[in-house]
Amino acid sequence: MSAPHEIVVLGGNFAGVGLVHYLFKITIPSLQKLDPAKTFHITLVTPNTDLFFKIGSPRALINDKLMPESKILRPLSEGLSKYKPEQFTLTQALATSLDASKRTVTIAPVGSETTTELPYDSLFISTGTTSTSPLWTFHADQSLTSAALKSMHASLPTAKTVLIAGGGAVGIETAGEIAHFFPGIKISLLSGAARLLPNNPPAIGPRAQSYLETHAKVEVIHKLRVEGSNVSETGTTVTLSDGSTKTADLYIDATGGKANTGFLKADWLDGTKRVLTRDAYFRVKGNGSDDVEGVYVLGDVTADSANTAMVLDAQTPTVASAFAVDFARKVIGVEAGEKNNPGLLGGLLGMVFGKKAGPPSLVEFKPMKDTMLVPVGPDGGVGLIMGWRFPSFLVAKIKGKNYLLEMFEPLLTGDKWKA
Ligand SMILES: Cc1cc2nc3c(=O)[nH]c(=O)nc-3n(C[C@H](O)[C@H](O)[C@H](O)COP(=O)(O)OP(=O)(O)OC[C@H]3O[C@@H](n4cnc5c(N)ncnc54)[C@H](O)[C@@H]3O)c2cc1C
Ligand SMILES: *[C@@H]1O[C@H](CO)[C@@H](O)[C@H](O)[C@H]1NC(C)=O
Ligand SMILES: *[C@@H]1O[C@H](CO)[C@@H](O)[C@H](O)[C@H]1NC(C)=O
Repeated sequence: MSAPHEIVVLGGNFAGVGLVHYLFKITIPSLQKLDPAKTFHITLVTPNTDLFFKIGSPRALINDKLMPESKILRPLSEGLSKYKPEQFTLTQALATSLDASKRTVTIAPVGSETTTELPYDSLFISTGTTSTSPLWTFHADQSLTSAALKSMHASLPTAKTVLIAGGGAVGIETAGEIAHFFPGIKISLLSGAARLLPNNPPAIGPRAQSYLETHAKVEVIHKLRVEGSNVSETGTTVTLSDGSTKTADLYIDATGGKANTGFLKADWLDGTKRVLTRDAYFRVKGNGSDDVEGVYVLGDVTADSANTAMVLDAQTPTVASAFAVDFARKVIGVEAGEKNNPGLLGGLLGMVFGKKAGPPSLVEFKPMKDTMLVPVGPDGGVGLIMGWRFPSFLVAKIKGKNYLLEMFEPLLTGDKWKA
């Protein structure tokens, strides 16, 4: 038997973990139907030991009772230990560089100088972003996220003023949670733009603002950005873009994250340092002459990404289909089948007659557009579903109640993917 085909996945949170399950459950079995002699091994390289359901952070930062840390941080092993060592290796490390010509990634454990070169046949990049605050994304050392949550639990009960920077969903949700559970705190939310949710359809941001302003002690400030901050005994003083300063007991940075692509060459990246793609199937573009055969990207680190977990429901099958098609062509010598868009009739026929075990085909990327839920506290909020307004009580029912926590288990175990 020949050596297994080595698939390396960089980054193990929403995108990377979802992909590993998808490959094992769906893609690999379909390729093995085509050629039973082929074997595969996946190495997931990531510094964290837990999967982080960061969607729940705005609630989890309030205290450890409403949404305990153990509900949003759960060991990766709970979902991945079912894969045998000859199929799967979880490596706790950071990717530090990539050599496209040798087809290797250099990795190092967090805080260590010891590097290892990992060869790949196929490579998936899903390293996400890092936000200034470890409340929203892992920093290399995941204990910083637990520490940030605990620090919020300790400070909020005595805080009189809180300043939040960031007018996106995370800033709004955080302001809404604090306003609800600590109504005595004066909250200033700085959007840094002309309105809340500046990157979403125009009606929704102002509506979120009016929900926030039903709390007497919330103020929303536009068109001023935080340029820097200084922590002292009396609180945190931030300098704003008009030169003025503002001091609060607690400062929360809820502005967006920076792409984790320091291990890649700049000529593979766009202006936001996200990874450029060469087609609609998330094959990596490279710089035009580097070897990028079998290199793919997914999740928040993808150029032009929607930066949502939801988009991965569409992106994961698409990027996995590109891998399957490339593998079938290069390794098995079989050309791709028709594009996999069965439509309603084809889908029904497939259900009746079974899907034929033909060559793999590309799956078109069809994400749900203009769909989002932004709770403002547990009792309401704003939302859109395919551009249509979502009533406040439904936002509360679907997300405000427990921040979609029921989605965590199927993500961790891979049960979200049905073969
Ligand atoms: C508060 C909050 C609320 C949200 N709410 C929603 C919502 O309601 N609906 C929705 O659809 N989306 C929501 N999102 C967005 C969603 O969480 C992200 O889109 C999703 O987490 C992206 O997944 P990812 O795997 O691409 O990146 P990440 O989750 O950022 O994971 C990246 C992984 O890569 C690892 N990594 C980093 N650098 C390296 C390296 N050099 N080598 C190896 N590994 C590395 C990290 O440790 C991490 O494990 C929310 C986000 C936040 C912060
Ligand atoms: C922070 O404090 C230092 C020392 O007092 C000062 O030099 C610096 O300008 C301050 N920065 C901001 C952003 O206020
Ligand atoms: C791409 O990068 C490689 C390696 O750094 C370099 O040799 C090559 O000239 C670059 N190609 C282009 C088209 O810029």
